[in-house]
Amino acid sequence: MSEILVVKLGGTTIADQRHVLADVAAVARRRPVVLVHGGGKRITEWLERLGVPSRFEGGLRVTDAQSLEVAAAVLRGVVNSELVAALRDLGVDAVGLSGVDGGLLVAERIPELGLVARVTDLRRDLLDAILVGGQVPVVAPLARDADGIVCNVNADDAAAGIAAGLGARQLVLLTDVDGVRDAGGRKLDTLTVAEAEHLIDGGVIAGGMVPKVRAALSALGWEGSEAIIADSAAERALERALDDPAFGTRITAGRAAPVGAA
Ligand SMILES: Nc1ncnc2c1ncn2[C@@H]1O[C@H](COP(=O)(O)OP(=O)(O)OP(=O)(O)O)[C@@H](O)[C@H]1O
Ligand SMILES: [Mg+2]
Repeated sequence: MSEILVVKLGGTTIADQRHVLADVAAVARRRPVVLVHGGGKRITEWLERLGVPSRFEGGLRVTDAQSLEVAAAVLRGVVNSELVAALRDLGVDAVGLSGVDGGLLVAERIPELGLVARVTDLRRDLLDAILVGGQVPVVAPLARDADGIVCNVNADDAAAGIAAGLGARQLVLLTDVDGVRDAGGRKLDTLTVAEAEHLIDGGVIAGGMVPKVRAALSALGWEGSEAIIADSAAERALERALDDPAFGTRITAGRAAPVGAA
């Protein structure tokens, strides 16, 4: 198991994320960090400007050729560059890449969703080369499928694939809610596989939280590994996600069934 920390940032604007990036910078001084980012809201905004409606199935964006072009431009061009620049401002030697670079993410197309793929494997060489130099890789969720076609990947899935491939002990998924909420709207401190499936079946976990919870479960490969879903807008969000059991929602391998059960 590795002390590499995989952190995923949900996709609002960088202005909203400045303080969480300071947190990422502080943690990255102590241990190796891989940052993965989403960009759902920014992609939707850009598509709206172009008059293209967004459609989601099971929390995943249905992606045709036109929306893939916009998604790729926004993720790799806009969001990734903003994050790398903001981290460099904070003294972090950040390096931007996507899952396409170095063949990082090995992915399999989900044909019903168009140009969308799920991560099946990680070629970690490029990440290792960046980490060994003390740099912080910042990964945009794009990947080539088996036919070499660039696809959109849900960023939680990308982060989970990277965490699993690196054997990371901790995966932190920072988002715009305080954690996973139950039917009464209460934030859950912990979640088991069975509880997660029950809440998904009942529609309590919906939208983008479905792929997020599934990603969290799939990243738990080793006894003692954990995935934490928490609010990026909170004070000291990353530090608290790592240290405070009452902050966010924790899913641990000890309480979860083996990978694949979800
Ligand atoms: N049971 C639930 N508990 C908490 N949030 C939920 C639940 N069910 C659905 N959600 C929704 O999931 C959303 C988070 O997922 P979303 O995909 O929108 O954000 P993200 O993954 O952080 O960003 P991005 O997709 O851009 O990477 C929340 O804003 C909330 O509306
Ligand atoms: Mg999402």
